Amino acid sequence: MHLRQLPFNLLLICQILIFVLTGSSEARQQCRLQVHNAQAVLEPPTNPGTGATSTTSSDSMVATGTSSTSSSTPSSTSSSLPAPTPFNYGSDKIRGVNLGGWLVLEPWITPSFFENTGNDNIVDEFTLGQLMDNDAALNMLNNHWNTWITEDDFKAIQAAGLNHVRIPVGYWSVPLTSSDTNTSTSPAPYIPGAWPYLLKALNWARKHSIHVILDLHGAPGSQNGYDNSGQRTDNPVWAVNSANVTRTVDTLRFIAENIGGMVDVVELLNEAAGFRGDDWAAVVRQFWLDGYGAVKQAAGQGIKVMIGDAFLGVNSWTNFLTHPGAQDVLMDFHEYQIFSDLELNRSFDDHVSFACGYMQSLSSYASSNLWTVVGEWSNAVTDCAQWLNGRGVGARWDGTWFPGPTSQVHGSCTNFTGSYQGFSGDYKTFLRRYWEVQVEIGENIQGWVFWTWKAENADEWSYQKGLEGGWIPQDPTNRLYPNICSGS
Ligand SMILES: *[C@@H]1O[C@H](CO)[C@@H](O)[C@H](O)[C@H]1NC(C)=O
Ligand SMILES: *[C@@H]1O[C@H](CO)[C@@H](O)[C@H](O)[C@H]1NC(C)=O
Ligand SMILES: *[C@@H]1O[C@H](CO)[C@@H](O)[C@H](O)[C@H]1NC(C)=O
Ligand SMILES: *[C@@H]1O[C@H](CO)[C@@H](O)[C@H](O)[C@H]1NC(C)=O
Repeated sequence: MHLRQLPFNLLLICQILIFVLTGSSEARQQCRLQVHNAQAVLEPPTNPGTGATSTTSSDSMVATGTSSTSSSTPSSTSSSLPAPTPFNYGSDKIRGVNLGGWLVLEPWITPSFFENTGNDNIVDEFTLGQLMDNDAALNMLNNHWNTWITEDDFKAIQAAGLNHVRIPVGYWSVPLTSSDTNTSTSPAPYIPGAWPYLLKALNWARKHSIHVILDLHGAPGSQNGYDNSGQRTDNPVWAVNSANVTRTVDTLRFIAENIGGMVDVVELLNEAAGFRGDDWAAVVRQFWLDGYGAVKQAAGQGIKVMIGDAFLGVNSWTNFLTHPGAQDVLMDFHEYQIFSDLELNRSFDDHVSFACGYMQSLSSYASSNLWTVVGEWSNAVTDCAQWLNGRGVGARWDGTWFPGPTSQVHGSCTNFTGSYQGFSGDYKTFLRRYWEVQVEIGENIQGWVFWTWKAENADEWSYQKGLEGGWIPQDPTNRLYPNICSGS
């Protein structure tokens, strides 16, 4: 089932491309090249003329193998998509949102998807593939991929003054073939099929002048054991098996080769669990080097590569992948203050001043190491969002945490999460301050990417609902609390 699904999707892409670009059945082996060089053409087959674009782009990232494809696309001058506008990562500020819960499911972002499986033991995409009839699951997934993020979201993101999206994707969605890796290509038990939706999103991003950070969010064996890696487990094995790591590098190479011309930044891996010990940390370190090499070699020097601090703090990565030995590397730092009693204990004011504490340390790191971005942060100050800690798991905040409540109850979750119709005026005022302070920290370095654009029932985590509810301004440079960190 899984294995049959893959070639079908690939073939579909190839057929559309060959039809659009050459009108002939020529060269199936050029298929991948064409996806790469054609700046991703994946409009619906019913309208094959739309979205076909120039292969003579000046984009230096589209460097290899263009000549044969160009010569076979006489219509390439009638491009309907604008040429990419380069983003100046050294000086322009990344202002972005994550497209969370789309191509990688998270129970708390879309609880209804998990409820609709009718099986409480389905807690992530791994168990979805294991425990549900695969045709039924694929139907649900296709419906979700079609509806959770659409072109309208890209329009709204652009209208909100944002210039980037970060798109999480799981390794199982990347259609490696046996010529791309000497490791396994089987996605089992995961259900593949998200790749064409990613290609559509890259098209929309280009069309609406949004830059893309493509974020490998789930690696084989799981890099952290979180449900958002695809598999919730106490025993992630990504780093303990070198075939898993090799496959991850091969996946990144495939991404860079095939869609490197359509993404600005390839993030090698989200939230690798460097805290699991020295062995893990050492594997992560070597993986950053190997992944950097693979992406640069496959996509050319123009592409940017993002690594993460692996929960070790940015200062664990001084003089690492820095210029001139490496080029165009970004550091991703995530800022949350909700996953321990210590943090949940903080008052609103304490949350703001604690955030201000990052201002100095991050900018100091950024000034002598890597361009640094707060690639995930939110407005939440509780862990109250339903299933935030995992499907079926409660919250530390109100003492419903599983497997047992922590020693402390901080309060009721009512009106801290869910619909903002229940949020108090004080809370919304705070949400605006907290949004501003974190934006301020990001603007002080190379930028920020809010987690996340949409969530079904957790408005404190939703950029979209923040705009609607008024605690996020339509113009992200607008400030009610200028110099918010100066006084504290
Ligand atoms: C697979 O192994 C062969 C033989 O060692 C090697 O030439 C090739 O580069 C490997 N492929 C990948 C993708 O690592
Ligand atoms: C990752 O490593 C584990 C542990 O060795 C192995 O059982 C598993 O098959 C690997 N996962 C994948 C997807 O290759
Ligand atoms: C949180 O605050 C309470 C009340 O001041 C205190 O008793 C408790 O020790 C604090 N918890 C942590 C983890 O700091
Ligand atoms: C939560 O908000 C709703 C709607 O404003 C309100 O009716 C309700 O009393 C609030 N509940 C609590 C516990 O504050």
